[in-house]
Amino acid sequence: MARKKIALIGSGQIGGTLALLAGIKELGDVVMFDVVDGVPQGKALDIAEASPVEGFDATFSGASDYKAIKGADVIIVTAGIPRKPGMSRDDLIATNAKVMDAVGKGIKKYAPKAFVICITNPLDVMVYVLQQASGLPESHVVGMAGVLDSARFRYFLAEEFKVSVEDVTGFVLGGHGDTMVPLVRYSSVAGIPLPDLVKKGWTTQAKLDAIVQRTRDGGAEIVNLLKTGSAFYAPASSAIAMAESYLKDKKRVLPCAAYLTGQYGVKGLYVGVPVVIGAGGVERVVEIDLNKAEKSMFDKSVAAVRGLIDVVRKLQRGEK
Ligand code: APR
Repeated sequence: MARKKIALIGSGQIGGTLALLAGIKELGDVVMFDVVDGVPQGKALDIAEASPVEGFDATFSGASDYKAIKGADVIIVTAGIPRKPGMSRDDLIATNAKVMDAVGKGIKKYAPKAFVICITNPLDVMVYVLQQASGLPESHVVGMAGVLDSARFRYFLAEEFKVSVEDVTGFVLGGHGDTMVPLVRYSSVAGIPLPDLVKKGWTTQAKLDAIVQRTRDGGAEIVNLLKTGSAFYAPASSAIAMAESYLKDKKRVLPCAAYLTGQYGVKGLYVGVPVVIGAGGVERVVEIDLNKAEKSMFDKSVAAVRGLIDVVRKLQRGEK
């Protein structure tokens, strides 16, 4: 069987890490694309030269012409500009919406059967613009945010409890932004829900609240440290987990920005919810019961996403 083809649109910090991880995990041949000629070619060659050392077999190439993504099975989009200190994800909206439009058209022309994962921020809006511009089915265009947000949550919890990250599950819903909803009730250590661990004295409610807040601010914490860009290792790992679930039909349950058609009372929007990713793309949206407080946080998050979609629509109509 021929190897799968993975196209990476955007070959910056996340794009480069994606290519290396796709190689190490032998997910398929990798095509890197960028508007800056030379960068995708240089990174592709550099990673290919690591393959004899690491022992992975795959081809790596770089391009600045959309033709190169022809027939890709998976496309991961990071094209656009990242945040600088003091900027919110929403400040990127005008520039990155135009980029998503161009990328969507390229995908429509050359890889209409691909499974597309968007990482570009502000995520929940950019994935929407990308889906619209590409015309691909909603099941095949999905946004990466929840895997990253829950990975941050899991990491902070594992640190607090001094247990393996592998045994901590973390559930995060809603938009990828300040209104994201880390769900304490559905997060656990080896199946023991966090509220029970508070009762058992493993941690205090105040410490748990601080971890929830740190998770919400997880992206900004990295931006403030780096000063010249935003996080890239963990975002790349997260998107690769989604790509792998699709390519291997693993049917993992992962929190992603998925298109809702009435689930959670939301219609026609991309919002972070748990989904099953398998060979059919997004095969199912998993609905869970939310209590009053969780529902109100979720609704606030949805309203924030809706507000940004309105901003994009106005920009697209040429209004200020
Ligand atoms: N088409 C293709 N690539 C583009 C385009 C475009 N129209 N416009 C910009 N790019 C490329 C840039 O040349 C750059 O190489 O996208 C790349 C983005 O890389 P970085 O600036 O290093 O940003 P990165 O850290 O990878 O983050 C990318 O993901 O998490 C989000 O907020 C983040 O929106 C940002 C995106």
